[in-house]
Amino acid sequence: MAEALKVLRACAGAQKLQLEFGEALVGGAAIDAHGRALPEATLRLCESSDAILFGSVGGPKWENLPPGEQPERAALLPLRKHFSLFANLRPAICFPELASASPLRPDLVAGGFEILCIRELTGGLYFGQPKCTRKENGETVAVDTMVYRSSEIERIARLAFEIARSRKRKLVSVDKANVLENSLLWRSTIRSVAEAYPDVEVSHLLVDNAAMQFIRSPRAFDVVVTENLFGDILSDELAMLTGSIGMLPSASLGTGSRGEACFGLYEPSGGSAPDIAGMGIANPIAQILSAAMMLRHAFGLEAAAAQVESAVRKTIAEGYRTRDIASAGCRLVSTAEMGAAICDNL
Ligand code: IPM
Ligand code: MN
Repeated sequence: MAEALKVLRACAGAQKLQLEFGEALVGGAAIDAHGRALPEATLRLCESSDAILFGSVGGPKWENLPPGEQPERAALLPLRKHFSLFANLRPAICFPELASASPLRPDLVAGGFEILCIRELTGGLYFGQPKCTRKENGETVAVDTMVYRSSEIERIARLAFEIARSRKRKLVSVDKANVLENSLLWRSTIRSVAEAYPDVEVSHLLVDNAAMQFIRSPRAFDVVVTENLFGDILSDELAMLTGSIGMLPSASLGTGSRGEACFGLYEPSGGSAPDIAGMGIANPIAQILSAAMMLRHAFGLEAAAAQVESAVRKTIAEGYRTRDIASAGCRLVSTAEMGAAICDNL
C-alpha cells in the first residue's frame, strides 16, 4: 500500500490532479488496534469516499479467532455486501517480458496474453442462506447454500457483454450446468442477455474443463465471466499462469454511483502474503495496478491510469524484479525499490 500511495502521489503531481487520501484500519490491523475487523469509523470513511483502495487483510495471527470475527468474514465480505460490489474484474496479464516467469511451457505463453476474469462477487455459496454448522443424529453437519437470482446473473452478464464488446468481442461463460441448478439458470440467463449483443461471440465452458483449457491455451481467451466461487478459484489459476499472483490487480464494482462513475473497491487479487510480511520483499505491482484501475473506473482518469500502467511495463522491461518474478540476470529489488523505480518511470 505504501508503494501504491507513492505512485498515486507522483502521478497526481505529473497529471496536476488533486487526490484526497483518507486512511483507516481494516482486517487484522483493525482487530489489533480496535478489537474488530471492520470498525465503524472505517466503514463511515469508506461511505464518504469516492473509492476504496484496499490493502490485504488476513494472516495466521487471526486464524484462531471465532470464524465470524476473522478478517475475511468480518471485514472483506461485509464490505463487498454493504456496497453491493457485485462485479469483480481481475485482469490476468502476462507481459511478454515476463513470459519466462509463467510456469507454462514457453511455446504456450510466447508473446504474453491478457485474460479478463469477471467474477460475480455478492452471490452464490459465499452469501447464500442457510449457512451453518449443526448436529444431526449425533453427528456434525455443515451447510452452505448456493443461491442465484436471475437479476443477479443478468447484471453481471450485461457488464461482461459490455466489456467484451469493448475488447475482442469474445466472451466465455463458465458454469457447472451438468450438475448444478444454479448453473442451468446461469447459462440460460447468459443466453438471453446474449440476444442483445449479437456482435459478441459467446461460448460456455464447464468449470472443470475451463480450468484445463486455461492451461492448455491461455491465448485463446479474452473475457471470462463466472459465479463467485468458480471465479475465486479460476482467478488464482489465471494469476499463476501470468507468472505471479503478486502482479494481479482487481476492481470490485458496485451498483452505487458517485456522479458518473460507479463506486468500487480496488485490491490485489491475491490478498496478504503472511509468510513474507514485513520483510520488504513483496511485489507491490498488484497494489499499484489496483490503484491504476481505481484512477480509471472510479475517477474516469484514463490518462493517469494509462501512465501508471505504462510505468509498470517500462519498469518490468528494464529488468526490475521482486523475488516472486525473478529470473537469471534480472535486477532483484525490494518492495520499496520497485515502487521507486515505477515512480521514476511515470
Ligand atoms: C479473494 C479472496 C477472498 C475470497 C477471501 C480472502 C475471502 O480469496 O478475494 O479472492 O475468497 O473472495
Ligand atoms: Mn481468492
